[in-house]
Amino acid sequence: MRGERERLSPAAAPRDFAEIRRSEFPWTSDTTYLNNASIGPLPERTRLVLEEFNRKRAAPYQLPDREIFAGMAESRRLAAELIGASPEEIGLTINTGFGLSLAARALPLEAGDIVLTSEREFPANVYPWMMLKDSGIILELTPTTAEGWPDEDRLLERLRDPRVRVLAISLVQFSNGYTIDLGRLSTATREAGVYLVVDAIQAVGQVPIDLRNTPVDVLACGGQKWLLSPWGSGFVYVRRDLIRDLRPAVTGWMAFEGTDDFTRLTQYDDRLRGDARRFELITLPYQDFAGMNASVRMLLDAGIASIAEHLQALHVPVLEWAARCGVRVVSPVDHHGCGILCVMPDDVGGAFRALKAARVVCGMREGAIRLSPHFFNTVAEMERTVDILEHA
Ligand SMILES: Cc1ncc(COP(=O)(O)O)c(C=O)c1O
Repeated sequence: MRGERERLSPAAAPRDFAEIRRSEFPWTSDTTYLNNASIGPLPERTRLVLEEFNRKRAAPYQLPDREIFAGMAESRRLAAELIGASPEEIGLTINTGFGLSLAARALPLEAGDIVLTSEREFPANVYPWMMLKDSGIILELTPTTAEGWPDEDRLLERLRDPRVRVLAISLVQFSNGYTIDLGRLSTATREAGVYLVVDAIQAVGQVPIDLRNTPVDVLACGGQKWLLSPWGSGFVYVRRDLIRDLRPAVTGWMAFEGTDDFTRLTQYDDRLRGDARRFELITLPYQDFAGMNASVRMLLDAGIASIAEHLQALHVPVLEWAARCGVRVVSPVDHHGCGILCVMPDDVGGAFRALKAARVVCGMREGAIRLSPHFFNTVAEMERTVDILEHA
């Protein structure tokens, strides 16, 4: 099914997206929203699912357990489809940080071990590792390249140090959109016997991912950005062969075998589940996962490869303006680029204020303007944005 979606002709994709824009994001008629790297908007269909779920929730006898758990199974299935994994490898979580903390607490690390990451990583992928200092585990922040991007060559070189046990890195950097060469890091960490932990929240939904070709050990993702899903929805992927070796640091009561049968809950059985549900901290915000299912289905129907292609087309007017006016582009524009495009005009603050005044919503990160359009944005909106920037 996925293959079929991705065969959508490039010409067909924008037309479909225009229709989705009208029906799912009607407010885009008066606001240009280029801030998906911060918060992805909820599509109308998702808002309605939440409303319907909460309507039933108000009188909970209308929400049988079997319906809730079928919805959660569907969330695992959809998350797995997004990244080329199997549902058994997915545990549902409330955010990215939960999955990264799980990796930090559950991977078998000892005093003297080194966890490698890059300078300028988002803090969700820094603090859980920093907390291991008390156990003698060292977090090493590898200097970035001159452009401020993760230095892959340097990271790979450091893998030769036998003390390095984990490489923890964002698939897409939050402040410049640099997308790591996952294949390269995957191969190198496999060869070195180093765990690869990926913060994927800035990637999943806009960057095609297939873990069958680029294996990682743990991948964490929240739903609130590129997945256009409610706060409180997210997932962690744990590689199949690793699941049984990892014991959850915080333990939910449904992480154990036999807990599906609510008639014998006090016949305790201390065997953790064999799949990634052992990492779930039930009870979870079920309404948010119902919403996530609607959003993710929509994205998969659109096709992640088509979305990525559309985002590249959206960047063109901005890149042309930057070249014409000598404006610094902070993001990579080769195969390390993605939907996030950061620019640094001379008067960044003034440009940002001008965009805001013209109802163009974007972000300011690390001194640059961060434009993060999604598939519902149009080239016309990007041209308008350029117009404002040019006159700011
Ligand atoms: C790279 C990255 N990781 C994590 C997060 C958020 O983490 P969480 O989902 O735990 O709030 C963000 C943005 O807020 C981010 O840009």
